[in-house]
Amino acid sequence: MCHHLTNIVILAAGKGTRMRSDNPKVLHKLAGKPIIKYIIDTAKSINKHKIYIVYGFKGELIKKTLNNESSITWILQKEQVGTGNAIKEVFPYLNDREDVLILYGDIPLISTETLKHLCNVKPKNGIGLLTAISDNPDGYGRIIRKNGTISEIVEHEDANPQQLSIKEINTGIIIVNIGDLKRWSKKINNNNIQKEYYLTDIIKIAYKDNCLIKSVYPKDINEIKGINDRIQLAKLERIYQAKQVEKIILSGVTLHDPIRFDLRGTLICGIDVEIDTNVIIEGIVVLGNRVRIGSGCLIKNSFIGDDCNIYPYSIIKNSNLDKKCKIGPFSHLRTEANLAQNVCIGNFVEIKEVYLSNHSKANHLSYLGNADIGSNVNIGAGTITCNYDGNNKLKTIIGNNVFIGSDTQLVAPVTIAEDVTIAAGTTVLKDIKNPGLIFDRKEQIHRKNWKRPLKK
Ligand code: UD1
Ligand code: MG
Repeated sequence: MCHHLTNIVILAAGKGTRMRSDNPKVLHKLAGKPIIKYIIDTAKSINKHKIYIVYGFKGELIKKTLNNESSITWILQKEQVGTGNAIKEVFPYLNDREDVLILYGDIPLISTETLKHLCNVKPKNGIGLLTAISDNPDGYGRIIRKNGTISEIVEHEDANPQQLSIKEINTGIIIVNIGDLKRWSKKINNNNIQKEYYLTDIIKIAYKDNCLIKSVYPKDINEIKGINDRIQLAKLERIYQAKQVEKIILSGVTLHDPIRFDLRGTLICGIDVEIDTNVIIEGIVVLGNRVRIGSGCLIKNSFIGDDCNIYPYSIIKNSNLDKKCKIGPFSHLRTEANLAQNVCIGNFVEIKEVYLSNHSKANHLSYLGNADIGSNVNIGAGTITCNYDGNNKLKTIIGNNVFIGSDTQLVAPVTIAEDVTIAAGTTVLKDIKNPGLIFDRKEQIHRKNWKRPLKK
């Protein structure tokens, strides 16, 4: 398959004026991932070839964003004067006897399957062109045919009313022999409404050169939708989310409303998972069997074990939860919360770099940071680990079966032995080495004849 394909060029130099943005169009995100990354990933999925990206407007930012992308040759287009000029910048790198597949940086959902199909229909001495039939061809180049064969592409802006009514559109994706392309490109000019050099002009030049132009359609029309403005981006986001959601539901998940769910990454689910409305999943998230996620939760790069229950409006990032944990409502597991089985974290509790062992709980209004907490520990309402001295993060260690009363401050570094009970309102400054009750209250004063001030 695609045995003759040795080069893929991605054109991504345009400013994307219609996005009205300070950032290059191809860095805008679809489902949390830069548009251009989709095309790169698809390009990489086709065997054995070199990938060239033509960059221009804020190109350094594009390179930086994709800095871990290996095996890409970056080529600067000095002036963004059209796709016909952009491709010329790559010519010095390309061997005349090979073929090149040209992709556009603003068409993210093109599939490997469609591209392979296109490569396979390309005649040996001809062009393979991906076209599509669209009920709404606005903005796309139109395919002109003479006696059924493709003879020309007319850009939307340059088309006459009769041409505008044509529903066959140019997707921009093309595979062509490099020697031919170089020869034909010399004849491209900018005598058109936009005063741009159109790569699409090579079609009429090739036709006059008696070249055979064969076309195929994509498997799905959404594959070739381009992103030129923020409306198109928003619409494609919905299309993409709908596609993802179908797979998730079919894999055994109940989504209470598939429209009010966003996946920006990868979600791996066990069976009988239940997800309520307005949940956002980011990065790589694994949910075990029977996990339930309440409305309004955000979960990022986390593992959540079987039978966990995440109540509404909780945020969980970079955390690991063993089986049967209960989180929320309104909990914030900020980073590296590592919870053993049956741990409960409740309302308005913030957790960062904390390990909690089996059956421990912090049910209300606490901040726990840099702590190592044993099993069966009860953290009372309003308990704070004072883990920061202004410069360093310091550790709190709490043994098994410790009971911490409400409104306790644990000034780190501090270690509390097993079975200790700390009375409400205690400020713990020193290590507690043996079991017993700890409190630091002054004696309670009771003025029996005291009266509240009267209103003047
Ligand atoms: C282009 C096609 C049109 C097709 C449509 C499909 C041309 C002239 N027209 O129009 O027939 O129907 O795509 O989506 O090709 N780019 C550069 N350098 C430039 C200009 C553009 O690298 O000087 C890049 C852009 O970053 C973009 C791609 O080429 O990724 C297409 O450019 P764009 O301006 O979006 O062309 P369209 O108007 O969409
Ligand atoms: Mg475009």
